[in-house]
Amino acid sequence: MAQIVLVRGDITAQEVDAIVNAANSSLMGGGGVDGAIHRRGGPAILEECKRIRAAQYPDGLPTGKAVATTAGNLPAKWVIHTVGPVYARESDPASLLASCHTEALRVADELGAKTVAFPAISTGVYGYPTGEAAPVAMEAVLTADSAVEEVRFVLFDADAYEAFERVLRSEED
Ligand code: APR
Repeated sequence: MAQIVLVRGDITAQEVDAIVNAANSSLMGGGGVDGAIHRRGGPAILEECKRIRAAQYPDGLPTGKAVATTAGNLPAKWVIHTVGPVYARESDPASLLASCHTEALRVADELGAKTVAFPAISTGVYGYPTGEAAPVAMEAVLTADSAVEEVRFVLFDADAYEAFERVLRSEED
């Protein structure tokens, strides 16, 4: 089971093997984490996303699935793109959010990545209440059967950090 670390900061600055992107199904970039990763990672990431779309996912990456690309100019080696659930649109957003984490860890294992950084997937534009997302994300990582040694949740703002910290503390009690 991976060691879980909480970090307050910018996921694009993390010196880990793989960072997870809160993408959309087009894989063509966007705002939030997606925008930051493409902006700092550079065009090589988008080039690989286009190849993945053409070769594997012509209709887009389904919610809950994950694919890997280079990390371009980022300190990490790979970006693992996953599509989180749009909270208001899904009848069972929790299982899809859990799938984002277990699928990302499965891809990380395929790559041989030992350290992986996750953002708070779906808690921005996709409207997943952070207090509900944090336990789902944490549980999915804690129960995943993965060779990843360290999972970092990289939280951009204080509220998200506190939400994840509450869950981590309750896991340790
Ligand atoms: N590092 C870490 N976390 C970040 C960063 C960053 N650089 N930028 C934003 N965040 C946080 C947000 O504060 C939020 O808590 O990541 C969380 C996820 O927010 P979004 O990036 O909006 O992702 P999501 O809610 O999954 O929506 C995905 O947004 O950017 C578009 O193309 C993306 O359509 C997709 C949608």
